[in-house]
Amino acid sequence: MKELSIFKGKRVLVTGHTGFKGSWLSQWLLELGAQVTGLALAPLNDQEHFCLAGLEKHLDHQVCDIRDLNGVNQVFAKAKPEILFHLAAQPLVRYSYEAPKETFDTNVGGSLNILEAARRSPNLGAVVFVTTDKCYQNQEWHHGYRENDRLGGHDPYSASKAAAEILFQSYLRSFFDQNPEIGLASGRAGNVIGGGDWAKDRIVPDCIRALAQGNPVRLRNPKATRPWQHVLDPLFGYLKLAARLYENPKAYPDAFNFGPAISSIQPVGRLAEAVVEAWGSGKLEISQDPNAVHEATLLHLNCDLAYQKLDWEPVWGFERAVKETTLWYLKQHQGQSVPELTQTQIKTFTQDLK
Ligand SMILES: NC(=O)c1ccc[n+]([C@@H]2O[C@H](COP(=O)([O-])OP(=O)(O)OC[C@H]3O[C@@H](n4cnc5c(N)ncnc54)[C@H](O)[C@@H]3O)[C@@H](O)[C@H]2O)c1
Repeated sequence: MKELSIFKGKRVLVTGHTGFKGSWLSQWLLELGAQVTGLALAPLNDQEHFCLAGLEKHLDHQVCDIRDLNGVNQVFAKAKPEILFHLAAQPLVRYSYEAPKETFDTNVGGSLNILEAARRSPNLGAVVFVTTDKCYQNQEWHHGYRENDRLGGHDPYSASKAAAEILFQSYLRSFFDQNPEIGLASGRAGNVIGGGDWAKDRIVPDCIRALAQGNPVRLRNPKATRPWQHVLDPLFGYLKLAARLYENPKAYPDAFNFGPAISSIQPVGRLAEAVVEAWGSGKLEISQDPNAVHEATLLHLNCDLAYQKLDWEPVWGFERAVKETTLWYLKQHQGQSVPELTQTQIKTFTQDLK
């Protein structure tokens, strides 16, 4: 895609490159010819997508804790980024109840350090600051949330991301607005699925673990609905946003939603069925939880702004997203090379762009 050719030869810094979304983004940037530096904690184990995809060989892998301002400054000084994607975070809601201080320290304090380093980086032309759909205060609305709706969050993770958004706005107004050479915006996306995610308590990795071991997939809450989106869809939004900001720093709003189409909001049971179908064997077992707590009305994003201003819209719908995700895991299970799988999927996605 022509618009993304801007990344060729650019020095791009990705925080959180050892994580699920960051590793896919780094791979895509490498495909586009960028010189990528990654700043993150070390991968948790050698089964992480970052390791399986062999990314360490192709980018400048900097292990650094974003809570350490000196360390962050050193990475920025060496990398001299022209474009920055900030994804590093403690991203798990359930863990945020166990470790609220770590969550706030990382997602707010760490993000503060990234913005501090960014404002002292003379070559920087565009920043995409990644938060989440959970930064909105859930008002139990049935319509999609817009970028200027109220921020807020009940659990520590959501609150930390809402706080990071406020921090970002403050830095924007106080330090970056006066500089005509740099464009910044935050990107808000929801749950994503895709190959190489092995996180606990996430439905697709749970299904894959069961299927790979020949066990039935056990579902406790099959009727709960969620928005499902392939990881490449919001990443395409972040890339487009960065490209536009770099070309025309002051021409865009400072926050964008990148959510799936309404038809991708589907029950967990339907998702698990689609995973089993694409895997080609396996069965589902429903064990309803009699103590299941009431769920708040699902929050979903209104993405009109990204559509109008960036000409962005989701490319892969629900069925395709689940199929591509499951086939990635299936082929990996069958021994296919992960770098090839990831590269092929990025290529296929790119061919599907209008
Ligand atoms: N995965 C999703 O469904 C989803 C949905 C909405 C938003 N997000 C956001 O996208 C971003 C990436 O999420 P992900 O799912 O890839 O998470 P992940 O857990 O797979 O990766 C997190 C990355 O952040 C890094 N990190 C964590 N703490 C750090 C620290 N103190 N210092 C340096 N690096 C640190 C990790 O090393 C890793 O590289 C996060 O900002 C997350 O909040 C993710």
